[in-house]
Amino acid sequence: MFEMLKKAMPDPIIGLTEAFKKDTNPQKINLSVGVFKDANGQTSVLDSVKEAERRILDGETSKSYPPLEGVPEFAEHVLPLLFGVDHALVRDRRAVLSQTTGGTGGLRVCADYLKKMHNQVTVWLSDPTWANHPAIFKAAGIPTKTYAYFDAVTNALSIDQMIAALEQMPAGDVVLLHGCCHNPTGTDPTSQQWGRIGRVLAQRELLPLVDIAYQGFGRGIREDAQGVLALADAGCEMLICSSYSKNFALYNERVGALTVVAHTDSAAQTVLGHFKASARANYSFPPTHGAKIVATVLGDAELRTQWEGEVKLMRDRIRGMRDFFVKSLAAAGVESDFSFVSRQNGMFCLSGLSKDHVAQLREGYSIYIVGSGRINVAGMTEGNMDRLCQAIAAVLQGHG
Ligand code: LMR
Repeated sequence: MFEMLKKAMPDPIIGLTEAFKKDTNPQKINLSVGVFKDANGQTSVLDSVKEAERRILDGETSKSYPPLEGVPEFAEHVLPLLFGVDHALVRDRRAVLSQTTGGTGGLRVCADYLKKMHNQVTVWLSDPTWANHPAIFKAAGIPTKTYAYFDAVTNALSIDQMIAALEQMPAGDVVLLHGCCHNPTGTDPTSQQWGRIGRVLAQRELLPLVDIAYQGFGRGIREDAQGVLALADAGCEMLICSSYSKNFALYNERVGALTVVAHTDSAAQTVLGHFKASARANYSFPPTHGAKIVATVLGDAELRTQWEGEVKLMRDRIRGMRDFFVKSLAAAGVESDFSFVSRQNGMFCLSGLSKDHVAQLREGYSIYIVGSGRINVAGMTEGNMDRLCQAIAAVLQGHG
């Protein structure tokens, strides 16, 4: 049955970590997968999370199934994180959510929902986008197309081309937007540009699907939700996939949510019912431990303040590494202007390094970055920066 099968292609992001683990070079550097590392290169458990876990374990009396839509207190605390405290959408129950297995699980449940209930739609993805987006929609049988987003020459948002593309899309189609910290470019719309995007989406009757996986890693926890709020202010109905892997460092607990914002509470409940049916056919119930951690941290004033401080530390470290990277490249003799890296948000920068440069970095120096040239800035440290920049300088100068 199996001998004749073709091998699966390695995942463009996770496959690199698999290769990295096998690499025996003691100086190897992994800047591929989007995982935050501290100044010592460690991905530690947050103190607020540890304390929440202690409280959960002490108080846990049963491991029975949760509701299909997940832990109720998770929704209660995550909706205000997205929309702010006491937003009318949440108060009126026009925004409701289903807990999902990470942001990716949310995207897949969403894709299955779209296939079942909005069968004719195309999902429009930014060019470029997260390498897994096309694969998720393909697996659910949903066609995808791309819209202009990033100008690789100026390293800036192609806002006019993006708006022009939105204006050409058929009503009812779905537009996937990165809520903040665009993956892979680190380039987000300004608040004024978000307003413009929201107005076109509402006017053209397009359905935004916001993927927000890095809230708090850009400019701040509230600031990073400004895109979601601008779309809500423009009157858009929308779908939101949110992830708590990065901002709670809960990568292996798979904590995410799929939210619907509808014009009425009954429509929101109808959509929620379909999310639950999709989840049931996928994996049934979401795991509860990570969701309880998020709810416990957000629901306790002291833990929440501690967590906000921890998110700020992560954000500040990434910002610091961006500036340090730019300076270190110049010090290593790189002549091209990399100052754009300091202006971007979140974990990633799209470096402009070619596939060939990426291959040389991996083969010659055991430095792993994604084939598109995407670098995880959150994996840089004072300790690996010099080696990284010397290697980039060498490949750019053709001495790789
Ligand atoms: C990434 O883009 O590296 C992260 O979102 C992790 C993943 O699952 O790809």
